[in-house]
Amino acid sequence: MSTAIWAEGLVKRFGETTALAGVDLQVRTGTVLGLLGPNGAGKTTAVRILATLLKPDAGSASVGGHDVIREAHRVRQLIGLTGQYAAVDEALTGAENLLLIGRLLGIPKPDAKARARELLTHFQLDDAADRATKTYSGGMRRRLDLAASLVGRPRILFLDEPTTGLDPRSRTELWGLVRELVAEGTTVLLTTQYMDEADQLADEIVVVDHGRVIASGTPEELKAKTGAQYLAVRPIDPNHLATVISVVGELTKSTPDVDGQLVTAPVTDPAVVPAVVRKLDDAGVLLAELALRGSSLDEVFLSLTGHPATDPSEDDSEGSSP
Ligand SMILES: Nc1ncnc2c1ncn2[C@@H]1O[C@H](COP(=O)(O)OP(=O)(O)O)[C@@H](O)[C@H]1O
Ligand SMILES: [Mg+2]
Repeated sequence: MSTAIWAEGLVKRFGETTALAGVDLQVRTGTVLGLLGPNGAGKTTAVRILATLLKPDAGSASVGGHDVIREAHRVRQLIGLTGQYAAVDEALTGAENLLLIGRLLGIPKPDAKARARELLTHFQLDDAADRATKTYSGGMRRRLDLAASLVGRPRILFLDEPTTGLDPRSRTELWGLVRELVAEGTTVLLTTQYMDEADQLADEIVVVDHGRVIASGTPEELKAKTGAQYLAVRPIDPNHLATVISVVGELTKSTPDVDGQLVTAPVTDPAVVPAVVRKLDDAGVLLAELALRGSSLDEVFLSLTGHPATDPSEDDSEGSSP
């Protein structure tokens, strides 16, 4: 399988700040790479270098087989970019924005118009097509951003935090649209602060923090890396909660986490599970749920970086910081 995006040793400094301290990454053609990291990790800087908007201080990169510095114009013909630096003009309507982009790409006017209409329909923006984009909701705006990046039918797409600040329904909608593009063969490099987003969309994940790659692999590989498994037990009868907490705590030698009726605890020895079942059975406790599960990506992130990942429900901003 061929490589659509390739970078080695990318370094970028802004004055005292080292935004990238030597980043390597590869994205196979037709797959999604999730570049995952907290605010300030260097994600946008990496995307801007790969999209030819910024020159690295060291290292090299190629996109679609073309060097991002020596063949920047070739790279630009292959890519679409959306996210923190999207070029949508607030005063123009959705249709005007897409037409303008088509014209800037050198597409003849009738074709640019047709392409704009096609994208507006596909992204369910027909009704809003002739309204100024400053009246759009956050979700509509992101759909227009994505449509704008697709005017030139790019084979390689950079999505920089495409769902930051969106409500859960709009996020799910956008994920669906990204999946469609990938199913059509588009290669995607997506940056995100959200574990669940990387887990949902990415074939491979590169975790960055402070300008360095701190882990990489498939979502499953990353989860397996921390090694931890969790036992989750939920009694049918809420009156049995205290018994469950005490049995799980005693046998796992830990202080269980309690969320509603669900009791969870880390398990290092799988033999603990039948022991818990027997002891609860002896105590006459019936279970609604009993599961041994791998660590979530949130737990992985915490163990890799020492700080929790951003929780999307805590972020209600529409825009995003530069
Ligand atoms: N144009 C710039 N001038 C100065 N500092 C910058 C600039 N762009 C990014 N930085 C800094 O570089 C670091 C990485 O930023 P960025 O790539 O935007 O991270 P992310 O997208 O992961 O939030 C941050 O400390 C940020 O403040
Ligand atoms: Mg960013």
